[in-house]
Amino acid sequence: MDLTQRPRRLRGSESIRRMVRETRVDPASLIYPMFVMDGTNLVEEIPSLPGQYRYTVDRMSEELERLSRVGVSNVMLFGIPAEKDSVGSQAYAEDGVVQRALGMAKNQFPDLYLITDVCMCEYTSHGHCGVLHGHDVDNDQTLELLAKTALSHARAGADMVAPSDMMDGRIRAIRECLDSNGFSSLPIMSYAVKYASSFYGPFREAAGSAPSFGDRKSYQMDFHNRREGRKEALLDVAEGADIVMVKPAMSYLDLVRDVREIVDVPVATYSVSGEYAMVKAAAQRGWIDEEKIFCEMAVSAYRAGADIYLSYYAKELAQFMREGRIG
Ligand code: PBG
Repeated sequence: MDLTQRPRRLRGSESIRRMVRETRVDPASLIYPMFVMDGTNLVEEIPSLPGQYRYTVDRMSEELERLSRVGVSNVMLFGIPAEKDSVGSQAYAEDGVVQRALGMAKNQFPDLYLITDVCMCEYTSHGHCGVLHGHDVDNDQTLELLAKTALSHARAGADMVAPSDMMDGRIRAIRECLDSNGFSSLPIMSYAVKYASSFYGPFREAAGSAPSFGDRKSYQMDFHNRREGRKEALLDVAEGADIVMVKPAMSYLDLVRDVREIVDVPVATYSVSGEYAMVKAAAQRGWIDEEKIFCEMAVSAYRAGADIYLSYYAKELAQFMREGRIG
């Protein structure tokens, strides 16, 4: 057979495959999502996320040490307060769970980069991502509380804030609030392209944040829409987002690619709780090879254009990246 191009020539050995590899990965781009809760001396495994835990502030250093050891230096903190109310006041309380976690972690782990999820749903009694007006979330009133929350995280030592609420105008509101309070250097990573997704199911169990009525479709995006994702990303960059995120990751890689091509800021994508839970469940049944699957999922996200990857598998991924098993 007289063939000029034989693509298999570049696949013949591990050496040549590594030489021509298009996607290179680096543990520095990983962010590990972590749950901190009120209380003392507790570490609870999350039933729907086997291998993931909720820590009280006095016990979280165990996990932070493990992260440092395997070379994951970026953490996204989620708070689970003991008390919830209609306006989510624990979200911006000076002694709130995330604020105390930041104080502890900054002190004991100065090399860790601490990002905080800024949202109301873990803190409101009704589980919606803002203040209710009737049965709908009041956008503009919620902006004030989000800005207050972001500021309180900044004051407690956060290195970056990451609003995940999907209210209109929140990046501008948070940016203005941070700037006018001396935090003009604090970056914002926006959950800019965030879909109303059933892939968040296990997270809501972990955080006790499922809405008590209705759903999040009046603020999170309709998963039938692609152009709208581009619109959201551009809007957030215009409002001052330093990094934009696409969420979930696996079923939304078209958006990762789209956004990568239209913005000049770094693009993150979040492999959410449902993605992790599906892999775990299938692996526990022996139906898939867990390690190979989560590596393939991560590389796909980077290949689609992500610069930053949030994953509950961050520790394992960091290790495999260092060992050269991927990228
Ligand atoms: C808070 C928030 C959610 C997630 C991240 N931030 C839940 C939601 O919007 O319902 C989901 C993360 C995951 O599923 O792993 N708004």
